[in-house]
Amino acid sequence: MALEDVFKKLVAHCKEYGYVFPSSEIYDGLAAVYDYGQYGVELKNNIKKYWWDSMVLLHENVVGLDSAIFMHPTIWKASGHVDAFNDPLIDNKDSKKRYRADVLIEEQLAKFEDKMNKEVEKAAKKFGDSFNEEMFRETNPRVLETKVKFDELTNRFAKALNDSDLKEIKQIIEDYEIVCPVSGTRNWTDVRQFNLMFSTEMGSNSEGATKIYLRPETAQGIFVNYLNVQKTGRMKIPFGIAQIGKAFRNEIVARQFIFRMREFEQMEMQFFVKPGEELDWFKKWKEIRMKWHQSLGFGAEKYRFHDHVKLAHYANAATDIEFKFPFGFKEVEGIHSRTDFDLGSHQQFSGKKLQYFDPETNESYVPFVVETSIGVDRMFLQIISAAYDEEEIKKDDGTIDTRVVLRLPPALAPVKLAIMPLTKKDGLPEKAREIIDSLKFDFYCQYDEKDSIGKRYRRQDAIGTPYCITVDHQTLQDDTVTIRYRDTMLQERIAVKNVNEIVADKLSLRKLLEKLK
Ligand code: GAP
Repeated sequence: MALEDVFKKLVAHCKEYGYVFPSSEIYDGLAAVYDYGQYGVELKNNIKKYWWDSMVLLHENVVGLDSAIFMHPTIWKASGHVDAFNDPLIDNKDSKKRYRADVLIEEQLAKFEDKMNKEVEKAAKKFGDSFNEEMFRETNPRVLETKVKFDELTNRFAKALNDSDLKEIKQIIEDYEIVCPVSGTRNWTDVRQFNLMFSTEMGSNSEGATKIYLRPETAQGIFVNYLNVQKTGRMKIPFGIAQIGKAFRNEIVARQFIFRMREFEQMEMQFFVKPGEELDWFKKWKEIRMKWHQSLGFGAEKYRFHDHVKLAHYANAATDIEFKFPFGFKEVEGIHSRTDFDLGSHQQFSGKKLQYFDPETNESYVPFVVETSIGVDRMFLQIISAAYDEEEIKKDDGTIDTRVVLRLPPALAPVKLAIMPLTKKDGLPEKAREIIDSLKFDFYCQYDEKDSIGKRYRRQDAIGTPYCITVDHQTLQDDTVTIRYRDTMLQERIAVKNVNEIVADKLSLRKLLEKLK
């Protein structure tokens, strides 16, 4: 099945099974805004807890914060967002569709990359075990020819971005004959800058009202509180502050479901370090964060780093952790060495000293910051797209059946256990409820008595429940139940008193957290 089709199915699955709904659907929706349903909210909460615990529990020198969404408007002037939080946009005059000019060029670069990778894949198949990829990439004329084009475009693009040269960006789009995917034409407008912040007014009457912004990142709430936390928590550098919260961006191109939204959630951690030590910490946090992603077990080959061609106005090093979504490798997390730009700028705009006094060296300085910033919604999409599987099962009569199963990491799955009486009578429902009552303090359990047991298993597979417990007549006699495992579909008979012990280990976040050591 084509990957786009897989993605369409995934989006439909998320809606059908209560994971994600389009916002305001009865009013035909609101572009790039989504609501999380009864299972979506559980998965989202589990993701947030896994991130939070990995930051705050596992690092003695990282503490939490929950700052307000509304902040003093000067904060956004100081941070550079009022003047520089822009995307270069371009319109196609025929389709009337608007695009991010930089994304159009990045897609062209991705085409070159795909072309090289296809040559490599073809050769790898042909030569088998004796294939040397590195040598092939360095010597194959077709790969080399494409590599020259790739490097030329990369360098030209980086220069245009760094110089904020909008004319040159348009020229690149024209020179590379990039067409509008909808109209297929090259009838482009000029490239313009577009600020991504939403604004509103605070105050009861129009004269006294102040223009304020919905925060486009949670990070600034951490910066302006860093001394409050440092002093009250007696924190010594290096230390970090972690925060989870909503952010808002008026995205021009809002596509690909929850990948790019106008209202989304971020999990950010700012790590305050001594000036000069930031690049070492940048390297360390890159490793820590990659390990966190890979601990989920989707396969190391699904992740890569992508170093930024253009550094943001505040950074001296930046990389993205990219995940292989059904629509290609895309950013899920950014790791940035933000220098002292933010704190220095807030010090200047607020007129308040934001220096740290280092008791070891007796000096005061404005710390440098390394940040890790990940979108909850993108993480959600990463997990759900890696977990979605259509498995073909050979039935006893030789025909093929397909089951849709979400192979979610058990510790993150919304429903942990489904407890099912085989029939609705003979005291089986009461026994099932009794079992739920003993398990519900530890796990999110679901009671299900409707339809055949086979249908019920499939329903639980579709929402990713790792374990189903079936209560039958034998249960009433010897207090045993059947446990059915989602991934293997194997079943075994176990004592009711052992259920908790058998599943607890796999379902606990601790198991995931231990992998991060
Ligand atoms: N404080 C730094 C910062 O905000 P960013 O690279 O713009 O950096 C960080 O955003 C992360 O936030 C991204 O890696 C992505 O996971 C998430 N994110 C950004 N914009 C988003 C959007 N429009 N919709 C969903 N997630 C988004």
